[in-house]
Amino acid sequence: MQLFLDTASVTEIKTMWEIGILDGVTTNPTLVSKEGKTFDALLREITALGIPSVSAEVVATDTEGMLREGRRLREVHSSIYVKIPMTSAGLKATKILASEGTRVNMTLVFSPNQALLAAKVGATYVSPFIGRLDDQGQDGMELVREIVTIYRNYKVPTKVLVASVRHPMHVVDAAKIGADIATMPFAVMEKLVQHPLTDLGLARFLKDWEKVPKG
Ligand code: E4P
Repeated sequence: MQLFLDTASVTEIKTMWEIGILDGVTTNPTLVSKEGKTFDALLREITALGIPSVSAEVVATDTEGMLREGRRLREVHSSIYVKIPMTSAGLKATKILASEGTRVNMTLVFSPNQALLAAKVGATYVSPFIGRLDDQGQDGMELVREIVTIYRNYKVPTKVLVASVRHPMHVVDAAKIGADIATMPFAVMEKLVQHPLTDLGLARFLKDWEKVPKG
């Protein structure tokens, strides 16, 4: 499963990219608003790192506006995936952008039927928001299970990008189900690395090493 960071922070992206565990980045207007830089400047900084997949979201809500923004965003860098919201206007824009060869990440997906439609119009990624469903008292991971099953039934090429991840168990469950990608905040990715027994074990090895005669 590919691991993406859900952030617009260049510092966070750089940290994980340099460790070598990062496959891509997803941004959204909320994340971009925290950085105090223009959208284009941010995208140029992120793509300059060499990240192979960078999702950038349109803010227009009508098809024409989405097409205009999508076509502009894809010109920023070859690694840009245009993020389009799951609405009728968004489906229409996705179909046109996909036919032009633009890779679309269909976002704000909360039902299996929405995922079916995203695939139908040629989205490259579909982004079910599991944490927001959990927040509503609905099992977000069940949605991922349903989408993966449906896509497998029909050999759909659209990749399932598990979004709105809140903790490491979301990542484990997404991988067990066979989702293609999980995108997560920096703090969650950091937790994938850590285990208290790793720290304890390392401390003990280093302590015992002090007893080994040197020379
Ligand atoms: C995904 O592409 C979204 O940016 C993101 O995962 C939303 O997560 P949130 O529910 O934590 O805002």
